[in-house]
Amino acid sequence: MLKGKKILLTVGPTREYLDPVRFITNESSGKMGFAIAEELHKENAELIIVCGPVNIQPKVPDRNIKKITTALEMYEECQKHFSDVDIAIFTAAVADYRPKHQANSKIKKDGNIATVEFVKNPDIAAEFGKIKMPHQISVGFALETDNVIENAQEKLTKKGFDMIVINSPNHGEGFGYDTNKVSILINGQNIKDYPLKSKSEVAKDIVDKIKSLL
Ligand code: CTP
Repeated sequence: MLKGKKILLTVGPTREYLDPVRFITNESSGKMGFAIAEELHKENAELIIVCGPVNIQPKVPDRNIKKITTALEMYEECQKHFSDVDIAIFTAAVADYRPKHQANSKIKKDGNIATVEFVKNPDIAAEFGKIKMPHQISVGFALETDNVIENAQEKLTKKGFDMIVINSPNHGEGFGYDTNKVSILINGQNIKDYPLKSKSEVAKDIVDKIKSLL
């Protein structure tokens, strides 16, 4: 069913540099994104994986992986593929902001308080949502702590997702762990809660749900 389908995945964190040796990033390990990629690879989908700095050896061919570092680079790489993918899956923890100025040489310390000004990064999923054609499917992720269903529904509508996978920051779930506990919301349907499972089992649930949208 997914054989030959062109699927774009964003995976992992991004890094936003302050100077050549310092950057802002987040806890994303890329494990969930690559677990989904491996599941899709088993189904013979045609993958384009745009991936931030991660420390894992995925079981997908190297030629399918485009390595990037910053959110702007991730956006530029994704833009090359937006028009000809069947499905886009946004698992990356993209930094929402980047430092306004990036110093060319290492910043020296100066005084007791330092201030950094940030500017907004492009919202890659939302940009795809704006130009997406009716036959294209968009899948997003959300990490929510409060008003989970309302916030996820709002994110789904705002970013033009057909389906959103909600995970929580609790112990044993999500960032860095090998297990995850998710709920899946498909536009216009009731939310479905899944128990704590290995990330490869969660990936299978997610891929099954995506298939149900085709
Ligand atoms: N996303 C993206 N580009 C961004 C920010 C987020 O593509 N610049 C994608 C993520 O990959 C994820 C979804 O949007 O699929 C939701 O990300 P999340 O960080 O939960 O949402 P935000 O829009 O950043 O909202 P907030 O952090 O305020 O909850």
